[in-house]
Amino acid sequence: MNRVHKPHKLDKQYPKANYIPVGVVSLKFELDTPFSGETKVTAKYRVRRNKGVADDTPLILDLAPEVLLSRVIINGWVRKPERVGDTIIIRGVTNEFTLETINFINTKDNTTGEGLYQAGDMLLTQNEPEGFRKILPYFDCPKVLAPFRTEIIGDKKKYPVMLSNGNLIDEKEEGLLHQKTYYLPFPIPSYLFALVAGKLGLLEDVYTTTSGRKVNLGIYAEAKDLEKCHHAMASLKHAMKYDEDWYGYECDLDDYKIVATPYFNMGAMENKGLNIFNVSCILASPETATDETYEYVEGVIGHEYFHNWTGNRITCVDWRELGVKESITVRRDGLFSKDYRGWGLRKEINDVSVIRGGQFAEDAGPNRHAIRPEEIKEPNNMYTATVYRKGAEVYKMLEDLIGRDGFLEGMKLYAKRHDGQATRIEDLMLCMEDANEVDLHQFRNWFTQSGTPTVTIVSEYDEALKKMRLLVKQETAPSRNEEELEPFDIPFGIGFIGKNSEINARAMNYDDYHDGILRITKKEQEFVFVCVPEKPTLSLNRHFAPVKVKYDYREGELAQLMAYDTSLFARWDASQTYGAQVLLKLAEDVKAGRELVLDKAFIDAFGSVLKEEDIDANLLAEMMTLPSETTLANMSDVVDPHAIHTARKFMKKALVDAFRVDFYFIYGGYSEDWDKQVSFDPESVARRSVANTALSYFVSDSTWKNIGKCLFGEFEKAKGMSDKYTALSILVAHSDKPNFGPFAEKALASFYEQYKDDNNVIDMWFAVQAYSDKKNAISRVKDLMEHPSFDLNNPNRVRSLLSAFSRGSVQFYTEEGYRLFADFIAEYAPKNDIVAAGLVSRLTDWKRYTPKLQILMKSELLRLKETLLEVPAEKVRGTMEKIEKSLAQ
Ligand code: PHE
Ligand code: ZN
Repeated sequence: MNRVHKPHKLDKQYPKANYIPVGVVSLKFELDTPFSGETKVTAKYRVRRNKGVADDTPLILDLAPEVLLSRVIINGWVRKPERVGDTIIIRGVTNEFTLETINFINTKDNTTGEGLYQAGDMLLTQNEPEGFRKILPYFDCPKVLAPFRTEIIGDKKKYPVMLSNGNLIDEKEEGLLHQKTYYLPFPIPSYLFALVAGKLGLLEDVYTTTSGRKVNLGIYAEAKDLEKCHHAMASLKHAMKYDEDWYGYECDLDDYKIVATPYFNMGAMENKGLNIFNVSCILASPETATDETYEYVEGVIGHEYFHNWTGNRITCVDWRELGVKESITVRRDGLFSKDYRGWGLRKEINDVSVIRGGQFAEDAGPNRHAIRPEEIKEPNNMYTATVYRKGAEVYKMLEDLIGRDGFLEGMKLYAKRHDGQATRIEDLMLCMEDANEVDLHQFRNWFTQSGTPTVTIVSEYDEALKKMRLLVKQETAPSRNEEELEPFDIPFGIGFIGKNSEINARAMNYDDYHDGILRITKKEQEFVFVCVPEKPTLSLNRHFAPVKVKYDYREGELAQLMAYDTSLFARWDASQTYGAQVLLKLAEDVKAGRELVLDKAFIDAFGSVLKEEDIDANLLAEMMTLPSETTLANMSDVVDPHAIHTARKFMKKALVDAFRVDFYFIYGGYSEDWDKQVSFDPESVARRSVANTALSYFVSDSTWKNIGKCLFGEFEKAKGMSDKYTALSILVAHSDKPNFGPFAEKALASFYEQYKDDNNVIDMWFAVQAYSDKKNAISRVKDLMEHPSFDLNNPNRVRSLLSAFSRGSVQFYTEEGYRLFADFIAEYAPKNDIVAAGLVSRLTDWKRYTPKLQILMKSELLRLKETLLEVPAEKVRGTMEKIEKSLAQ
């Protein structure tokens, strides 16, 4: 096929760098030098002017203003650079020269979690996206690549372990100091550079690739945590095998090292050959980690490993193109978890819930953006649900168009064509097209246009002709800075469910329908199906495209889909659509002060699920779970979190009243024997999930006097953390009732005592209290901020209290709740802008809420802005960008 390539906005050109390093970049780090205690950084490398760049173009290097620059030497001559903003400028350089720089950094006062910083007793780097400029002057942009040689000199006792990217090529000892030199032969951008120094234990293993090369695997963690690294190690080996089996991507390293730290802004970081992990994404043992954590660790280990190809060997040219490494890597880790590791339906549903709960909210707020935006300000604000999660869904849709094999062929071509380069999303799309001989011109709109499309469907069945007509409309309102949007290319899964089985309908036009997928490409489109023997019930968006669907189901249809749809995913989805419909109506009743009554038909539909024999355990667990409050909020035009909360609580209670005995029996039938070892295979996890969901229902029957005591018993004897934490959460959730209260306090105290040295578990202890919907939640959060284990320097701890409160407690949506939250951010943002910018999103989407809440939120935002204006602007850039965008709405 001869593809005629039409230009698309995605095909954006980025200017080349004016100057680039040639050969190896040599760095020397002298840690904690005497007198000042600062770290001295010496760099030496050759630099060349790029072809076609004018002779008088100055050399500009990135360097954060707080770094003390002591010397710049060019070809042996000391030069005095100008310092402007985040850069240094040196004029009058020749077209090739040797550059040497010396500077000092204060790692102790660096609380930002970027650059080189003190993390407990360790020194750590975090350079993505622009942390390297806080370490030394350099070309701190992803399109400039170079191999690195890194020498580290530090105190033997304080830093027995000193690591950097690549292989250890030299080591020496001298007095109290020792020196290690690493060499990384692959060219990398600065954001993938890493250095770690500290007291760390090591868990070792070896992996042999298909072609027979040996890769040494090492996980470094505090000695006490090493026993919790086995799951991560096993996951890493699975990930390495999957990448070879599916994509033909082999590991190119001799040493693959991972370091675990409790002090990290994000989940983990894919530094070449030296990943750094937040302890929350790596440590797991049956007694300390829930099933979700086990799954999460496996996924994140996979994700960072997969970056070795999609991210490291092939990187992004510019932060606007972040999706070329993130969206695709999330998709790759999603397939690893779902299909390779067998989490299946559970993973599929989880991913969809994140989109509906989190990404749709982003699209509805001031931070709405395209996966590949035209312009960005603060690159740290690009690590969003849109780039990560929606981006991954876009690659899933692509698979609906070209098939799994076609997708994998595209990925293979991508590696072949672009190994060693910095690319754009466009380059990846071209590979997909070339490997599959398809035209993805319109599909590219998913990357360049923002927002959640609404797909509206009207159906007509012609009894006489046995014909089904579908009128489909897609609409996406442009954001404030977008012109009218072009229609998206939406592969939309559809099924026709008859009374007894699925109907194999035949399309009139096979260009836009194949294998159960409608290809929606126009603003309005008609699809006609023939040979439809009976009036079918439509099963819609069965593969989940990230759109909202509008369709008027007739009475009984959703219940029918819940019970009989042949796709398990679609059965779950019908239960959620139905549940949401009923819940949103109840929320209206709450607002209008009407008496709440749970719809009888919904009760029956829910009941048939509970009573179904041989139902898939994952499906049962997920169908018992009502749509989350955030999902419901994202479906409301005006969000009233209090009404939603009351409605959801009411529904849960009404379902217990209807099915008390069923929940009880399900719990009994699915919970494990006490003497059994906790196992983390998908089947056991699914069963545990059913048991714990059922438990959370039937205990809310507060008429049973001894319930708190019984639950406390379950809490005490639970072997695995999932069971223990469920019991604890339920006790705390009902702690306002006399038969629960004392046991909740007892359980909290014993939990703390048992786990006070385990960072991850103590985070859970903070979170479970912050989730409370009780009136005293705010004073509880205030007390917890004063707790000795609360630590402002630990981002996980901050999130476990503040993020949990703002997402999980309905008391957040009050004058006092907002105030507490804004006060906290005012104090915290100057310390850690990245984490604060994440938190502030809870206030910036004020426009979606009721008028009363809008006023409260906005006034807190204004107050927050005033306070932050008194702080040096560069310290709160990310938080401020979000506040300003929000107030400009
Ligand atoms: N690149 C990391 C990942 O997706 C995320 C990250 C971004 C970590 C920025 C730290 C800072 O795996
Ligand atoms: Zn990533």
